[in-house]
Amino acid sequence: QSGETSPPSYPSPWGEGLGDWEAAYAQAHAFVSQLTLLEKVNLTTGVGWEGEKCVGNNGAIPRLGFKSLCMQDSPLGVRDTDFVSAFPAGVTIAATWDRQLFYQRGYDMGSEHRDKGVDVQLGPVVGPIGRSPEGGRNWEGFSPDPVLSGIAVAQTVKGIQAAGIMSCTKHYIGYEQEHFRQGGPTISDSISSNIDDVTMHELYLWPFADAVRAGTASVMCSYNQINNSYACQNSWTQNYLLKNELGFQGFVMTDWSGQHSGVSSALAGLDMTMPGDIGFDSGTSFWGPNLTIAVLNGTIPQWRLDDMCVRIVAAWYYVDREANQVENAPNFSSWTEDTFGYLHYYASEDYTQINYHVDVRGDHAANIRTQAAKGTVLLKNNGALPLTGKEKLTGVFGSDASENQYGPNGCSDRGCDNGTLAMGWGSGTANFPYLVTPLEAIKAEVLSNGKSIESVIDDYAYAQQNALARRISDVAGACIVFVNADAGEGYIIVDDNEGDRNNLTLWHNGDDLIRNVTSFCNNTIVVMHTVGPVLVDAWYENENVTAIIWAAIPGQESGNAITDILYGKVNPGGKNVFTWGASRGAYGTDLLYEPNNGAGAPQEDFAEGIFIDYRHFDRVGETPIYEFGFGLSYTTFAYSNLQVQTHSAPAYTPTTGQTGSAPVLGSVSNNTADYLLPDDITPLVAYIYPYLNSTSLAASSGDPQYGINYTFPAGAYDSSPQPFLAAGSKVAPGGNQALYDILFTVTATVTNTGGVAGDEVPQLYLSLGGPNDAKVVLRNFDRITIAAGASGTFTADITRRDLSNWDTDAQDW
Ligand code: NOJ
Repeated sequence: QSGETSPPSYPSPWGEGLGDWEAAYAQAHAFVSQLTLLEKVNLTTGVGWEGEKCVGNNGAIPRLGFKSLCMQDSPLGVRDTDFVSAFPAGVTIAATWDRQLFYQRGYDMGSEHRDKGVDVQLGPVVGPIGRSPEGGRNWEGFSPDPVLSGIAVAQTVKGIQAAGIMSCTKHYIGYEQEHFRQGGPTISDSISSNIDDVTMHELYLWPFADAVRAGTASVMCSYNQINNSYACQNSWTQNYLLKNELGFQGFVMTDWSGQHSGVSSALAGLDMTMPGDIGFDSGTSFWGPNLTIAVLNGTIPQWRLDDMCVRIVAAWYYVDREANQVENAPNFSSWTEDTFGYLHYYASEDYTQINYHVDVRGDHAANIRTQAAKGTVLLKNNGALPLTGKEKLTGVFGSDASENQYGPNGCSDRGCDNGTLAMGWGSGTANFPYLVTPLEAIKAEVLSNGKSIESVIDDYAYAQQNALARRISDVAGACIVFVNADAGEGYIIVDDNEGDRNNLTLWHNGDDLIRNVTSFCNNTIVVMHTVGPVLVDAWYENENVTAIIWAAIPGQESGNAITDILYGKVNPGGKNVFTWGASRGAYGTDLLYEPNNGAGAPQEDFAEGIFIDYRHFDRVGETPIYEFGFGLSYTTFAYSNLQVQTHSAPAYTPTTGQTGSAPVLGSVSNNTADYLLPDDITPLVAYIYPYLNSTSLAASSGDPQYGINYTFPAGAYDSSPQPFLAAGSKVAPGGNQALYDILFTVTATVTNTGGVAGDEVPQLYLSLGGPNDAKVVLRNFDRITIAAGASGTFTADITRRDLSNWDTDAQDW
């Protein structure tokens, strides 16, 4: 509720090398034990915005040959460089419901990052999860369903890390809108997402638990507050939930400028600050020299700094970074595409070759095309599809079929909606190596069949739209209409949308375009490239609309993928990853667009609890237009022989026992003269170093309030063995391991009763049955390919977690 405060939880759990992290921890302990205080501080603190070549870099340890780590966006490819692939967005891959494709896309993206010399890919995204459909960054993530998101994030993490780089699962947690994510011109603090404990566990934390269990090397804390405590210094979300309950062994890094304190954030479990400076290029840092000071004066215990370093270095070993180095890494600069330039871009120092233009795409294009086609959802089909190729005249309508007149990368960070929409906007982007438009791919198909094609790509050329539609109707051809709806990150405003969408309508008057074409053309196929649901109520039942496709946010192979579907080269098998409601109000949740707390932090109460998307529709009896999980095929399927097998699993037992005490690695000299800037270093402008500028800590801090009487939470300094949480684990990340015991296995026979091979996605929903539960919740699924007339077997396990509710009083499942 508004004004709610987040409970304290200290000390910050030190990593112990649980499960398959054991060897990496042993290596990290050996490494960190050799480090000086300054070297340790360097590991934790970014060098400042545009100080090195990546979106973020921490300090190096030259004495031991440990290079600055390169943190690079994005969740769909390598941002801010050339000769990379533009993969389908998270929402698209989710719509494939295909574990193998989740993994493959992760692996391919990870390989591209690795070959550019990146250490940490800043993705995948499960926050936002998509509480409200207007949320600007929902498309970067997977789905508002926590189980679908959880399976997708785990497979993506495993794929990325199998390529030998670290993933960064973000944004932790409750980051569900762009408005007020960092306050605002007249708002002092970031929005507070007020979330109760049950909702936290059963919805928002759920996919993060899967990411942790899958071994994600890092987690990015978000810009917002949770229960009025900033995400990057929230001891409950970081210490208690992430590191204690979930047993996270990697490191927490801030979102860019998401840190709001030095000592408090350290005690609350933050491990790395990015990009390191307080404001971009302010030359000041909450850590850097201030972390050196805080360890020397005891406000941050040495063991906490050691734990930060161990977590960072262990993550590096865990993904085998040592064996996956490339020449000249990073072989690109995020700040310019010029071949020669400044290594230290902001300071304009060290002119050298900074871009090697390495083409890292491999053979990923074919996978991208498959992923985009398999993530395409057929929503309506009156027999119009697949097209036969014999259509005498094909018409293609709408700017969404065609090129951006500025080129595919013509708007910085894709911050415009020109031409076909294949990526949303913001930091969650990559440059297109090319973008196959729907118009060019459809035209190639039509020409290969020796037929005719014309297009009207001006959304407002109503007379020409009408005229072409009429001619097509006269010869019984096909009218294909392309429409879209865009969204992105809040630092870019497109057509008055500040990241979040202002409404759920189609952009560029898409409804008018559809009306113009359907007025004359009785075979109108509507293809939508949208970041989430849009309102289709005005036209979906129109009998001249013979087919409707959601082609998602497809990436570079857009035109090829949609042509594969339209002409039946790929039989659609994608399913909705969100609900299509009849009105905006049908969703029950909305964003906060206007401040509601004066100049203070806007308060957004997640009062709906777990009831977002389909759970809300079910609860209030709201009939959706197209339901979550729905999608048609060019064939039909029948289900039979449902069986439930019961397994004997041991009873659930709360975890007991204690951790070891906090390790202290190496020693710290108290002689402040040891920490002054060495004579042989000329500092770069605005670059963050760990050095003191005076032997007096007070003077070095430059803080007039240095030494005031301030009480930090006592427990924060306790390095003695700590009890494990009941819901936690002493053996492996992911929480109490009995949660993952398989209690039941469900099988069913699925028969392809139509005339062509196709993919079906059987989905297992459970009714937990409690008074506060949703009517049904998704718990498992599989995507299976079945030949015409043949049968396949659907097999789905149900774990104890799948059948559990969170008990706030017991603090256990
Ligand atoms: C801010 C965004 O929220 C985050 O997702 C991104 O990784 C960083 N900027 C770095 O670009």
